[in-house]
Amino acid sequence: MRYTAPKGLFDILPESPSQEELWCQSDKWQYVEAIFRKTAQEYGYKEIRTPIFESTDLFTRSAGEGSDIVSKEMYTFEDKGNRSLTLRPEGTAPVMRSFIENQLQNLTSVHKFFYIGPMFRYERPQAGRYRQHHQFGVEAIGISKPEQDVECIDLLCEIYRRLQLNSLHVVINSVGDEASRNNYRAALQDYLRPHLEALSLESQDRFSKNPLRILDSKNPKDIELLAGAPSILEALSKEAADHFQKVTQLLDQIKLPYTINPRLVRGLDYYTNTVFEVVSGQLGAQNSLGGGGRYDGLLGSLGGPNLPSVGFGTGIERILQTMAKQEVLFPQPPHPFLFLIALGEESRKVCFSLLTALRHAGISAEMELAGKKVQQGLQMANKLQADYSVVIGDDELQRGIVQIKEMQSRVIREIPLASFLEEIKTLASFTQNAR
Ligand code: HAM
Repeated sequence: MRYTAPKGLFDILPESPSQEELWCQSDKWQYVEAIFRKTAQEYGYKEIRTPIFESTDLFTRSAGEGSDIVSKEMYTFEDKGNRSLTLRPEGTAPVMRSFIENQLQNLTSVHKFFYIGPMFRYERPQAGRYRQHHQFGVEAIGISKPEQDVECIDLLCEIYRRLQLNSLHVVINSVGDEASRNNYRAALQDYLRPHLEALSLESQDRFSKNPLRILDSKNPKDIELLAGAPSILEALSKEAADHFQKVTQLLDQIKLPYTINPRLVRGLDYYTNTVFEVVSGQLGAQNSLGGGGRYDGLLGSLGGPNLPSVGFGTGIERILQTMAKQEVLFPQPPHPFLFLIALGEESRKVCFSLLTALRHAGISAEMELAGKKVQQGLQMANKLQADYSVVIGDDELQRGIVQIKEMQSRVIREIPLASFLEEIKTLASFTQNAR
């Protein structure tokens, strides 16, 4: 039996097996995650970690029965106590559940959370679409003002900017409040009714269940039919229209370019007012790098306080794939400062003590432990990109002097064994300052 990862899943490895899979390399993930954390913290967001599975009801109620996620993509199972549980397909509902359960509203009036972690959706795997993907997301609870929407959009763009991604486009829309949406739903159905049979089967199915999602159809015939459809922006209530106008004014004010697309609806039912997506021309069919919006009614509908909220999620796989396509330079992965090679039993003991002492002093060091020849040891030091290497044999032990080689310049110098640790510490701090 040959075991493989389940379909649509992948491993994140210290070294990628091929050039195409560079984005699966763990140091690249760590780099991207560090930028998320730092940027989110600078914008005042604090980390929240929720469990990987929740009660199925939580997702059915929040994402909506008619959403693709609930109707076909959830990994749902029964535990031994006959509870229906679901691997989280997204991060917003779990944050709401945790907020309500822990009564976080009693702590302060504004709550800004970020999270990083895996999400699970039973989708047809293809480039940029996986059954386990990883999201970085934020949720800001408590503020209904448009500045909060724009803070989220700006934070998402700032993360991409710091990751040196370019050629991205921000697309925004408003799906209004419930009254605006009800008006629009009826107007859209009236418009589409005479063309019902010409629509794709999927859109026909959505016609009564979730007509707004028809706007999202990728079917060319549907797109053609939708060309003359009324715009949701014309159906907005005065309050919703004002909110949207203020959002666009603020985006203009901070000079964040965007496009308004009245067809942008997003796949989750909880959105109200502002919705947004950041798309990349380099991702093919799965071109959405990140998306989110306001969801003022969700917390209340799940039994919590009636607080307005807004947030976004962005897929780490898609970010890394776009970075690879745009040939963004990643920082050099960590490498050892010193590589020790011992020749003989006595020097092996000495080397091992030095290795441990160096590590305890916070200096990254490695030692050739397999007992290979000097040449192979040096090849290993090269492969690991060590800054320096040291070969210690009986001769060095007798003379009390060791030779340290700078790997890149191949310059060799001698240092007394007695002051080895001190010398290496000085060298390491000198090298660090010079970098
Ligand atoms: P979403 O648009 O469903 O929103 O997902 C957010 C991002 O996750 C997408 O833009 C995409 O980059 C990535 N993503 C989604 N599904 C997959 C997949 N199968 N494979 C790879 N990447 C994927 C949400 O999940 C909302 N919770 C976002 C949000 C937070 N809205 C408000 N707050």
